[in-house]
Amino acid sequence: MLVRVPGLLTPDEVARAVAILRSADWVDGKVTAGAQSAQAKTNLQVPENSRQAKEAGALVLRGLGRSPVFNAAALPLRVFPPLFNRYDAGMRFGDHVDNAIRFGAGARIRTDVSTTVFLSPPEDYDGGELVIQDTYGTQSVKFEAGDAVIYPSTSLHRVNEITRGSRWASFFWTQSLVRSDERRRLLFDMDTAIQRLAMELGQTHDGVVSLTAGYHNLLRMWVEM
Ligand code: NI
Repeated sequence: MLVRVPGLLTPDEVARAVAILRSADWVDGKVTAGAQSAQAKTNLQVPENSRQAKEAGALVLRGLGRSPVFNAAALPLRVFPPLFNRYDAGMRFGDHVDNAIRFGAGARIRTDVSTTVFLSPPEDYDGGELVIQDTYGTQSVKFEAGDAVIYPSTSLHRVNEITRGSRWASFFWTQSLVRSDERRRLLFDMDTAIQRLAMELGQTHDGVVSLTAGYHNLLRMWVEM
Protein backbone atom coordinates (compact mmCIF):
# COMPACT_ATOMS: atom_id res chain seq x y z
CA MET A 1 0.00 0.00 0.00
CA LEU A 2 1.33 3.37 -1.00
CA VAL A 3 -0.01 6.35 0.96
CA ARG A 4 0.56 10.04 0.35
CA VAL A 5 0.82 12.21 3.45
CA PRO A 6 0.18 15.77 2.28
CA GLY A 7 1.83 18.57 4.27
CA LEU A 8 3.75 16.39 6.72
CA LEU A 9 6.03 19.42 7.04
CA THR A 10 4.82 23.02 6.73
CA PRO A 11 6.49 25.28 4.13
CA ASP A 12 8.29 27.00 7.03
CA GLU A 13 9.64 23.67 8.33
CA VAL A 14 10.79 22.67 4.84
CA ALA A 15 12.65 25.98 4.52
CA ARG A 16 14.28 25.48 7.94
CA ALA A 17 15.31 21.90 7.15
CA VAL A 18 16.84 22.96 3.83
CA ALA A 19 18.69 25.85 5.51
CA ILE A 20 20.14 23.44 8.11
CA LEU A 21 21.16 20.91 5.45
CA ARG A 22 22.95 23.52 3.31
CA SER A 23 25.78 23.61 5.84
CA ALA A 24 26.13 19.80 6.04
CA ASP A 25 29.19 17.86 4.82
CA TRP A 26 27.45 15.73 2.19
CA VAL A 27 29.06 12.32 1.67
CA ASP A 28 28.69 9.49 -0.85
CA GLY A 29 25.33 7.74 -0.28
CA LYS A 30 26.90 4.28 -0.55
CA VAL A 31 27.58 4.49 3.22
CA THR A 32 24.07 3.27 4.07
CA ALA A 33 23.62 0.89 1.13
CA GLY A 34 23.98 -2.89 1.20
CA ALA A 35 26.43 -4.59 -1.18
CA GLN A 36 23.86 -5.03 -3.96
CA SER A 37 22.25 -1.62 -3.72
CA ALA A 38 25.63 0.20 -3.46
CA GLN A 39 26.26 -0.69 -7.09
CA ALA A 40 23.00 0.87 -8.19
CA LYS A 41 23.33 4.00 -6.08
CA THR A 42 24.78 7.42 -6.85
CA ASN A 43 23.66 10.18 -4.52
CA LEU A 44 24.82 12.27 -1.59
CA GLN A 45 23.81 11.94 2.04
CA VAL A 46 24.17 13.87 5.25
CA PRO A 47 26.24 11.85 7.80
CA GLU A 48 23.87 10.11 10.23
CA ASN A 49 25.41 11.46 13.41
CA SER A 50 25.96 15.01 12.24
CA ARG A 51 24.39 17.99 14.01
CA GLN A 52 22.52 18.83 10.78
CA ALA A 53 20.94 15.37 10.51
CA LYS A 54 19.81 15.56 14.13
CA GLU A 55 18.36 19.08 13.89
CA ALA A 56 16.55 18.51 10.60
CA GLY A 57 15.57 15.03 11.82
CA ALA A 58 13.86 16.55 14.85
CA LEU A 59 11.67 18.65 12.53
CA VAL A 60 10.65 15.52 10.60
CA LEU A 61 9.89 13.55 13.78
CA ARG A 62 7.72 16.41 15.03
CA GLY A 63 5.79 16.32 11.74
CA LEU A 64 5.26 12.56 12.13
CA GLY A 65 4.03 12.95 15.70
CA ARG A 66 1.16 15.21 14.68
CA SER A 67 0.18 13.35 11.48
CA PRO A 68 -2.93 11.18 11.85
CA VAL A 69 -2.42 9.78 8.34
CA PHE A 70 1.17 8.65 9.02
CA ASN A 71 0.19 7.06 12.32
CA ALA A 72 -2.88 5.31 10.93
CA ALA A 73 -1.04 3.99 7.86
CA ALA A 74 2.35 3.04 9.38
CA LEU A 75 1.18 2.04 12.90
CA PRO A 76 4.70 2.85 14.15
CA LEU A 77 6.41 0.91 16.90
CA ARG A 78 9.89 2.40 16.31
CA VAL A 79 11.05 5.02 13.86
CA PHE A 80 14.63 5.03 12.62
CA PRO A 81 16.27 8.49 12.96
CA PRO A 82 15.49 10.38 9.72
CA LEU A 83 18.28 10.55 7.14
CA PHE A 84 18.71 13.05 4.32
CA ASN A 85 19.79 12.60 0.74
CA ARG A 86 20.23 14.58 -2.38
CA TYR A 87 20.34 13.72 -6.06
CA ASP A 88 22.04 16.22 -8.35
CA ALA A 89 22.02 16.03 -12.17
CA GLY A 90 23.22 12.58 -13.34
CA MET A 91 22.54 10.87 -10.00
CA ARG A 92 20.14 7.95 -9.53
CA PHE A 93 19.38 4.89 -7.44
CA GLY A 94 18.50 1.79 -9.48
CA ASP A 95 16.01 -0.92 -8.50
CA HIS A 96 16.61 -2.32 -5.02
CA VAL A 97 14.92 -3.46 -1.83
CA ASP A 98 15.96 -1.74 1.40
CA ASN A 99 17.92 -3.77 3.96
CA ALA A 100 15.63 -5.75 6.29
CA ILE A 101 17.34 -4.62 9.48
CA ARG A 102 18.82 -1.24 10.43
CA PHE A 103 20.94 -0.15 13.34
CA GLY A 104 20.51 3.42 14.50
CA ALA A 105 20.43 5.44 17.73
CA GLY A 106 21.53 2.34 19.66
CA ALA A 107 18.53 0.30 18.52
CA ARG A 108 17.91 -2.36 15.92
CA ILE A 109 14.75 -2.17 13.88
CA ARG A 110 13.04 -4.34 11.31
CA THR A 111 12.19 -2.17 8.31
CA ASP A 112 8.48 -2.64 7.58
CA VAL A 113 7.58 0.76 6.17
CA SER A 114 9.77 3.11 4.11
CA THR A 115 9.10 6.85 4.06
CA THR A 116 10.34 9.62 1.79
CA VAL A 117 9.65 13.26 2.67
CA PHE A 118 10.12 15.56 -0.31
CA LEU A 119 12.07 18.74 0.48
CA SER A 120 12.46 20.11 -3.07
CA PRO A 121 9.46 21.41 -5.03
CA PRO A 122 8.90 19.31 -8.19
CA GLU A 123 9.57 22.30 -10.46
CA ASP A 124 13.17 22.45 -9.13
CA TYR A 125 14.23 19.27 -10.93
CA ASP A 126 13.50 16.96 -13.87
CA GLY A 127 13.55 13.19 -13.46
CA GLY A 128 14.02 12.00 -9.89
CA GLU A 129 10.68 10.17 -9.67
CA LEU A 130 10.45 7.55 -6.93
CA VAL A 131 9.19 4.48 -8.79
CA ILE A 132 7.66 1.78 -6.58
CA GLN A 133 6.48 -1.67 -7.59
CA ASP A 134 3.33 -1.93 -5.51
CA THR A 135 0.87 -4.83 -5.31
CA TYR A 136 -1.31 -2.95 -7.80
CA GLY A 137 1.47 -2.29 -10.30
CA THR A 138 4.22 0.27 -10.70
CA GLN A 139 3.64 3.75 -9.30
CA SER A 140 5.71 6.82 -10.02
CA VAL A 141 5.80 9.47 -7.33
CA LYS A 142 6.95 13.09 -7.32
CA PHE A 143 5.16 15.12 -4.66
CA GLU A 144 5.15 18.70 -3.40
CA ALA A 145 7.80 19.83 -0.92
CA GLY A 146 6.61 18.91 2.59
CA ASP A 147 4.59 15.90 1.38
CA ALA A 148 5.61 12.37 2.26
CA VAL A 149 5.01 8.97 0.72
CA ILE A 150 5.00 5.77 2.71
CA TYR A 151 5.27 2.32 1.16
CA PRO A 152 6.08 -1.23 2.24
CA SER A 153 9.82 -1.80 2.66
CA THR A 154 9.33 -5.12 0.86
CA SER A 155 8.72 -3.29 -2.45
CA LEU A 156 11.31 -3.04 -5.18
CA HIS A 157 11.86 0.67 -5.88
CA ARG A 158 14.20 3.14 -7.55
CA VAL A 159 14.87 6.85 -8.02
CA ASN A 160 15.09 7.84 -11.68
CA GLU A 161 18.11 9.77 -12.86
CA ILE A 162 17.98 13.53 -12.37
CA THR A 163 18.34 15.36 -15.66
CA ARG A 164 18.11 18.92 -14.29
CA GLY A 165 18.34 20.56 -10.88
CA SER A 166 18.58 18.86 -7.50
CA ARG A 167 16.18 16.73 -5.44
CA TRP A 168 16.52 16.85 -1.65
CA ALA A 169 14.61 14.53 0.62
CA SER A 170 14.42 12.90 4.01
CA PHE A 171 14.10 9.13 4.17
CA PHE A 172 13.76 6.66 7.01
CA TRP A 173 12.25 3.37 8.07
CA THR A 174 9.62 2.36 10.58
CA GLN A 175 9.13 -0.89 12.39
CA SER A 176 5.38 -1.26 12.49
CA LEU A 177 3.19 -2.70 15.21
CA VAL A 178 1.69 -4.76 12.38
CA ARG A 179 4.28 -6.45 10.21
CA SER A 180 2.06 -7.53 7.32
CA ASP A 181 1.40 -4.94 4.64
CA GLU A 182 -1.89 -6.65 3.81
CA ARG A 183 -3.11 -6.30 7.40
CA ARG A 184 -1.90 -2.70 7.69
CA ARG A 185 -3.78 -1.87 4.52
CA LEU A 186 -6.98 -3.41 5.82
CA LEU A 187 -6.68 -1.57 9.14
CA PHE A 188 -5.94 1.72 7.38
CA ASP A 189 -8.94 1.39 5.05
CA MET A 190 -11.16 0.49 7.98
CA ASP A 191 -9.87 3.37 10.09
CA THR A 192 -10.39 5.84 7.23
CA ALA A 193 -13.96 4.61 6.68
CA ILE A 194 -14.75 4.82 10.42
CA GLN A 195 -13.47 8.42 10.59
CA ARG A 196 -15.69 9.33 7.65
CA LEU A 197 -18.75 7.68 9.18
CA ALA A 198 -18.07 9.31 12.55
CA MET A 199 -18.05 12.74 10.84
CA GLU A 200 -21.46 12.05 9.30
CA LEU A 201 -23.18 10.11 12.07
CA GLY A 202 -21.29 11.18 15.21
CA GLN A 203 -18.86 9.21 17.40
CA THR A 204 -21.65 7.77 19.53
CA HIS A 205 -23.71 6.24 16.71
CA ASP A 206 -24.19 2.50 17.42
CA GLY A 207 -22.69 1.46 14.09
CA VAL A 208 -19.63 3.68 14.58
CA VAL A 209 -19.07 2.32 18.10
CA SER A 210 -19.35 -1.25 16.87
CA LEU A 211 -16.98 -0.74 13.90
CA THR A 212 -14.48 1.04 16.18
CA ALA A 213 -14.57 -1.95 18.54
CA GLY A 214 -13.95 -4.23 15.55
CA TYR A 215 -10.96 -2.13 14.48
CA HIS A 216 -9.37 -2.28 17.92
CA ASN A 217 -10.00 -5.97 18.31
CA LEU A 218 -8.39 -6.70 14.94
CA LEU A 219 -5.44 -4.50 15.88
CA ARG A 220 -5.11 -6.31 19.22
CA MET A 221 -5.09 -9.65 17.38
CA TRP A 222 -2.36 -8.60 14.93
CA VAL A 223 -0.13 -6.29 16.94
CA GLU A 224 3.45 -7.33 17.88
CA MET A 225 5.45 -5.35 20.41
NI1 NI B 1 15.53 2.39 -0.98
